[in-house]
Amino acid sequence: MNELQEKIIKLKKERNALILAHYYQTLPVQDIADAVGDSFALAKLAQKAKNDTLVLCGVRFMAESAKILNPEKTVYLPSGEAGCPMADMIKPEDVLALRKKYPEAAVVCYVNSSAAVKAVSDICCTSSSAEKVVRSLPNRQIIFVPDRNLGSFVSKCVPEKEVILFNGCCPIHDGISAKDAKAVRDATPEAKILVHPECRPEVLEFADFIGSTAGILDYARKTDAKELVIGTEQGVFDILSRELPEKGLRTIKNNFVCSDMKKTKLEDVLACLEGKKLPIVLPEDELSGARRSLERMVEIG
Ligand code: 13P
Ligand code: SF4
Repeated sequence: MNELQEKIIKLKKERNALILAHYYQTLPVQDIADAVGDSFALAKLAQKAKNDTLVLCGVRFMAESAKILNPEKTVYLPSGEAGCPMADMIKPEDVLALRKKYPEAAVVCYVNSSAAVKAVSDICCTSSSAEKVVRSLPNRQIIFVPDRNLGSFVSKCVPEKEVILFNGCCPIHDGISAKDAKAVRDATPEAKILVHPECRPEVLEFADFIGSTAGILDYARKTDAKELVIGTEQGVFDILSRELPEKGLRTIKNNFVCSDMKKTKLEDVLACLEGKKLPIVLPEDELSGARRSLERMVEIG
């Protein structure tokens, strides 16, 4: 621990703050967190947190979800600039237009979305809960927003549903091509390829395992395979490189980095604890509508 990290840890105790970090955060940020997890785990931890203050080291939708699920708490996003380009691809009007076109359908909204979009959806999901959420709904037609790649993956897992896709994506995961995946398969034929479902369907075809960041970490920790290809953001590779130095590890493509996730600096975390940053505030109508969708997701688990 360096001096700054020690200062943060001391202050978080004094302020009764809980620091939560996503697996894509830099290792120095993960190291000062009370818990590190995927979007689903972070949402659940935020919901049941007893602390006065929550500091969500991740991107805006994660901090917003924490505030929505536990509105009495003071919730901080250390870098106000840390957004998610996929979340910015859809507006509430897009969901309302789809509802009009498919009145029988239920709207499942990936948590990588704004509070306003969650508020006009029926239920949220994360990558680790998407299949379970879709299966749980009585409707045959499902409008899945905003990630077309996750939606297409889920539609293959639950073929009895008609899944209507919105044309959004994560530019980082969608940037991986089948050519990249084939190149890594040809170069490391013995390796297990572990891929996040935000990748394109033609990339998922090369995968030995498809899952959330937590799912990929879990698979990597348990497998006997000597070589692993990590098909998600660099943060997961960094965790595994430190933890499993004996494994042959590589990412599916060089520079697989979400620049928004890397915006959190230790100085920003300290500033939150010192009360020098503005906490998350959401309009009441968005808070209550989005809470319904998020709480349904957590209940289904
Ligand atoms: P996970 O829920 O799998 O952690 O994914 C979050 C995310 O933003 C992936 O790009
Ligand atoms: Fe958004 Fe993609 Fe970054 Fe995840 S990796 S936060 S989906 S831009």
